[in-house]
Amino acid sequence: MEVIRVKDAVAGGKKAFELIKAGMDSGAKVLGLATGSTPETLYQDMVSSEIDFSDMTSVNLDEYVGLGGEDTQSYRYFMNDHLFNQKPFKETFVPNGKAEDLAAESKRYDQVIADHPIDIQVLGIGRNGHIGFNEPGTSFDATTHVVKLTESTIEANKRYFDKAEDVPTHALSMGIGSIMQSKKIILMAFGENKADAIKGMLEGPVTEDLPASVLQNHQDVIVIVDEDAASKL
Ligand code: GLP
Repeated sequence: MEVIRVKDAVAGGKKAFELIKAGMDSGAKVLGLATGSTPETLYQDMVSSEIDFSDMTSVNLDEYVGLGGEDTQSYRYFMNDHLFNQKPFKETFVPNGKAEDLAAESKRYDQVIADHPIDIQVLGIGRNGHIGFNEPGTSFDATTHVVKLTESTIEANKRYFDKAEDVPTHALSMGIGSIMQSKKIILMAFGENKADAIKGMLEGPVTEDLPASVLQNHQDVIVIVDEDAASKL
């Protein structure tokens, strides 16, 4: 994995934006996108750029079970709000958290991924090393599946909700197997609370206990970290 150290999240977003621009110049058509605070600076750069994304397709990593696109806490809402409303894409995919049959929705999403192979996957990382919503212990072979969120993830994500009880307990997530099929992966991490996960991912063993460590087995991963996230390397 190539590690790029930057000063802060603004510089990190710029770096990721440059990589995506270069990828698009070389023919990338499908972006795998992530939510959370980490990619916000990247999306700001995409929005304020002159680039036309109307020929691009996006496939998002995950969605909370029970939340629809009109719900301001849903990941579909986040993506529309931070990126797609300002920069229309040709097609945008996010798992349907309101699907009645979650197994069928998982299958449908796997077909979406198969039909739109991801050229560049953008990732954040959870404090416990999760990617997408693939929590520790998830099989590296997993495809799209329903996840029971860990206490630590619910705790970390409750800042977006009025009360911790409002944070959904389950999510639909693209699996690690699918993430690993992406041609190129850009993982960003900013802030001290990511330092342990980043150290484990880069320097520890490849283990399902730290899902992001699987990226050591991918041949084209760029990790963009700020000084705080890199502080334990
Ligand atoms: C959630 C998302 C992940 C994201 C993680 C970190 O769990 N499912 O895709 O990487 O949060 O979020 P943040 O970037 O806000 O730290």
